[in-house]
Amino acid sequence: MCRRTKIVATLGPATSSPERIEALIAAGADVVRLNFSHGEADDHRQRAALVRQAARKQGRFVAILGDLQGPKIRIARFADRKVMLDVGQAFTLDATLGNEAGDKHQVGIDYKALIEDARVGDILLLDDGRVELEVTATHPHKLETRVRIGGWLSNNKGINRLGGGLSARALTDKDRADIITAAEIGVDYLAVSFPRDAADMEEARSLLLAAGGHAGLVSKIERAECVADDEVLDGIIRASDAVMVARGDLAVEIGDAELVGVQKKIIARSRQLNKPVITATQMMESMITSPMPTRAEVSDVANAVLDYTDAVMLSAETAAGDYPVEAVAAMERIILGAERHPLSKRSKHRLYEEFHDVDETIALSAMYAANHLQGVKAIISLTESGATPRLMSRLRSPLPIYAFCREEATQNRVALYRGVQTVPFYSERLAPEDVNARAIDVLRSKGVVTNGDLVVMTKGDYLNAQGGTDVLKIMRV
Ligand code: G6P
Ligand code: MG
Repeated sequence: MCRRTKIVATLGPATSSPERIEALIAAGADVVRLNFSHGEADDHRQRAALVRQAARKQGRFVAILGDLQGPKIRIARFADRKVMLDVGQAFTLDATLGNEAGDKHQVGIDYKALIEDARVGDILLLDDGRVELEVTATHPHKLETRVRIGGWLSNNKGINRLGGGLSARALTDKDRADIITAAEIGVDYLAVSFPRDAADMEEARSLLLAAGGHAGLVSKIERAECVADDEVLDGIIRASDAVMVARGDLAVEIGDAELVGVQKKIIARSRQLNKPVITATQMMESMITSPMPTRAEVSDVANAVLDYTDAVMLSAETAAGDYPVEAVAAMERIILGAERHPLSKRSKHRLYEEFHDVDETIALSAMYAANHLQGVKAIISLTESGATPRLMSRLRSPLPIYAFCREEATQNRVALYRGVQTVPFYSERLAPEDVNARAIDVLRSKGVVTNGDLVVMTKGDYLNAQGGTDVLKIMRV
């Protein structure tokens, strides 16, 4: 059985050499993430070129995901790099303090609006919640706080407010510059950090289009206010081409106890609205320094697979860890195990809803036909943009969906969709009456089907154009 759930692997210092990138892809990475929070434009350009080369060499289709830094609020720096904060002591965040002037009693902050947004009694979480401060007084340029959870605090650590609600706009000046780089690189997906609502996604989209980019936009759900209101969440999902459950900042803002339920909700809602969804952050964190995941991590990955996420993501594990290739291999093994569970094979996707367009009706009918008819071995979807296989892959199934497509952008883009495999196919070079037989020949030569098997296929009356899928065929090989 081939793996359906996709693996996203982040590149970084541990995985920048041609050999390491080749090894990540050979181990099973389907999507490679360039993190614009670290490194220069040229680093990303080089890595992207290496990914394209390695994929071509291995005959694989790998999507490149650029991930914008967004308005991550950070403290400035300390004269001695780090300080020890004691529970109960006073500590001041001061927007006017020099960038390197922090000490045990105060530190600078790069985001002045935090000072205006904060109220007495607010809880501020630093370094992913490892240090906790309570605001005791506010002034025009500084906040006085008392330490609730102490510990070491070092340079440039991030700050979140418990409950969210900081007014920062999603796209910073750096993000705007990085969007241009991402368009130049030709990334297949671009992730927007901390969007507040659909309008933030729309702004990113118009900037991307203006820069000449063709990437699918991924919204990272990581603000408390995005999951507090169903309409806001739906709006963001609808304005995106894919969604990421960005569990790091999200868990800090909503509290870790809420996270599991919220993850399930975001995954379910994304699938319902026909969008692919990535589950991210700390999935195999211990593999940064260990060749084996913990039982809890195995369980976390497997449960995301059972929730029916499209992809699971590795961050520091592959970017900076000691065992990047082992982490991808371990993820693959766990995914395959979880996909053997019957929950991965049954679907009621949109079963009790009305459909509104012909393409979707054909796509879903094809999936139900394939799942219910004995003897079906594969699903073929002729597609220009990847839209038809995306609709299909929202429905659970044990059968592989083959996206037959000619556009390189589509060949890469569908790499994110659960259960979908790319097959390069150039039907415009064929006589229309030969297309079906040739498509089946391709699967036969891959060893996917043999004589007597059934194949379900979708296409349009008109070939080689986006949309217009209106034919469902069931063919015997
Ligand atoms: C190809 C096929 C058409 C089909 C179309 C669907 O172009 O030749 O028959 O209608 O794909 O593309 P879409 O991008 O909507 O999935
Ligand atoms: Mg984040």
